[in-house]
Amino acid sequence: MLNHIGTTTIKTKRLTLRRFTPQDAEAMYSNWASDARVAKFLTWLPHESIEVTKALLNDWCTHYDEKNYYNWLIEFEGQAIGNISVVKQSERDCSCDLGYCMSQKHWGKGIMTEAAKAVTDFLMGDVGMHRIVIENATENPASGCVARKCGYTLEGVRKEAFLSLDGRWLDICHNAILKNEWLKSK
Ligand SMILES: CC(C)(COP(=O)(O)OP(=O)(O)OC[C@H]1O[C@@H](n2cnc3c(N)ncnc32)[C@H](O)[C@@H]1OP(=O)(O)O)[C@@H](O)C(=O)NCCC(=O)NCCS
Repeated sequence: MLNHIGTTTIKTKRLTLRRFTPQDAEAMYSNWASDARVAKFLTWLPHESIEVTKALLNDWCTHYDEKNYYNWLIEFEGQAIGNISVVKQSERDCSCDLGYCMSQKHWGKGIMTEAAKAVTDFLMGDVGMHRIVIENATENPASGCVARKCGYTLEGVRKEAFLSLDGRWLDICHNAILKNEWLKSK
């Protein structure tokens, strides 16, 4: 049984993971949501104008009073630089999938690994998940690298499971961590 507590602020050594507010639209748009390179392996198109970001944030913010809604803004050195969220969940199986993206300017500094570890700790320890999945396209190894540095193991590759925005079928790595594996890593 899951103990849903909603999107709760999480602090790590370098980061604050917090709820979005409508005032984050400008930073989100300019730092990552308008960047085609960031969206390359994701399900959404780069935002064509800040109006798209504003509308999306207004929608996201209406969900924060739902106890099973988990969607964090990643703040680094006082700046909004990315997003990590639960993109899919099964109440019945106590499982969920994580998704993340962030500003190119900050890639390669270990930031998403720090964020994903903290969110994994929160979802396992506080919410009571049994299993968490992170998927990445084989063409996007940095994302799989984040998952493995957080203790997830590659379970297999789903062939041509994702149609990219540029119309190509991509193979998808399925990385997962179980509660007992997470506990052993503590
Ligand atoms: C994927 C993403 C979240 C990674 O964030 P990040 O903060 O740069 O990740 P980290 O620095 O914590 O770790 C990245 C790791 O990938 C490794 N890496 C980077 N490019 C790589 C490549 N081409 N092949 C193999 N490993 C690679 C880095 O060396 C690093 O590992 P290390 O610390 O052991 O050296 C970021 O690149 C991003 O936002 N991409 C666009 C959105 C996206 O693709 N999201 C994931 C969808 S599945």
